Amino acid sequence: MSKRFSRITGTGSYLPPRRVTNADLAAELATRGIETSDEWIVERTGIRARHFAAPDVPASELAVPAARAALQAAGLQPSDIDLIIVATSTPDMVFPSTAAIVQHKLGMAGCPVFDVQAVCSGFVYALTVADALIANGTARRALVIGAEVFSRILDWSDRTTCVLFGDGAGAVVLEASDTPGILATDLHADGKYVDILCVPGHVSGGQVLGDPVLKMDGQAVFKLAVGVLDKAARAVLAKAGKQESDIDWLIPHQANLRIMMGTAKKLHLPVDKVIVTVQDHGNTSAASIPLALDHGVRSGKIQPGQTLLLEGVGGGFTWGAVLLNL
Ligand SMILES: CC(C)(COP(=O)(O)OP(=O)(O)OC[C@H]1O[C@@H](n2cnc3c(N)ncnc32)[C@H](O)[C@@H]1OP(=O)(O)O)[C@@H](O)C(=O)NCCC(=O)NCCS
Repeated sequence: MSKRFSRITGTGSYLPPRRVTNADLAAELATRGIETSDEWIVERTGIRARHFAAPDVPASELAVPAARAALQAAGLQPSDIDLIIVATSTPDMVFPSTAAIVQHKLGMAGCPVFDVQAVCSGFVYALTVADALIANGTARRALVIGAEVFSRILDWSDRTTCVLFGDGAGAVVLEASDTPGILATDLHADGKYVDILCVPGHVSGGQVLGDPVLKMDGQAVFKLAVGVLDKAARAVLAKAGKQESDIDWLIPHQANLRIMMGTAKKLHLPVDKVIVTVQDHGNTSAASIPLALDHGVRSGKIQPGQTLLLEGVGGGFTWGAVLLNL
């Protein structure tokens, strides 16, 4: 039997309507006695604005319109889908999975659904798992979604973290194909770095124990990120027998412009081969890569047949890359 590959046939994304610029955020934080500025945020991160979901809007509410847009782009109906994976660290509930909630909201039933929790590497992890489940015949048409409401887990008294994140969702339809599609994947984690980026709180005995807000050692994350992203990029290129020069677009996790540009430089890629949306979205964790991908596709930058390098890095510490032909 010939090998089964997988291919992205549609992309979609959704941002909640409330857009908050750095100046808006600085003014809001000033009322709490926290000092920050547009200049500081832009210089250190490249972020100029982010979107925040209303307090009663959970991740699944962002995931559903993103999924519908991806389905429409692929020319499919929800009933054509036989697998849903949602990458999220801000699920609607402790359980069941946000994927189960999304499945029901899309009017579907029966197919396997689950969440992947790899924080900002979540989408790259989820895409890799979906690719493997298509290759082994478990599924033919998967929805792979990254959806986050990070605004819920921010410490608004910590200016080193609360200016960095936003809410949103991105999705792709991944279909079985005789030709790749996904050329190579590479995933890693090192749990000794749990403490440098975490939300240590948990539910126990009907209460939240520990701190349920994001803690980060920004400099430690920064240093690790550039190194591991370069290794993952080289690993997928080697697995696929490709060169740096074969990459048409680098779509890195959108956390910090300086990390993205550092990664591109190590790969000898010009700046204009990097899809950058961090200025408008902030860091949307598992949603950032599919949001950037959809933005690149819908803006006409990314064309069918091009070679894309997707790269994620985040809490765990986790990291990974997917090399694919669109
Ligand atoms: C978080 C990050 C932007 C901080 O930038 P940095 O250059 O390391 O800045 P530092 O933490 O050294 O802080 C420098 C100064 O700015 C101040 N500062 C921190 N946040 C600030 C803010 N929002 N506004 C104004 N000043 C701020 C600090 O208090 C510090 O002041 P001091 O020198 O008087 O002590 C940077 O470390 C980073 O981007 N790390 C990676 C984070 C990331 O990408 N995480 C997600 C990965 S998935």
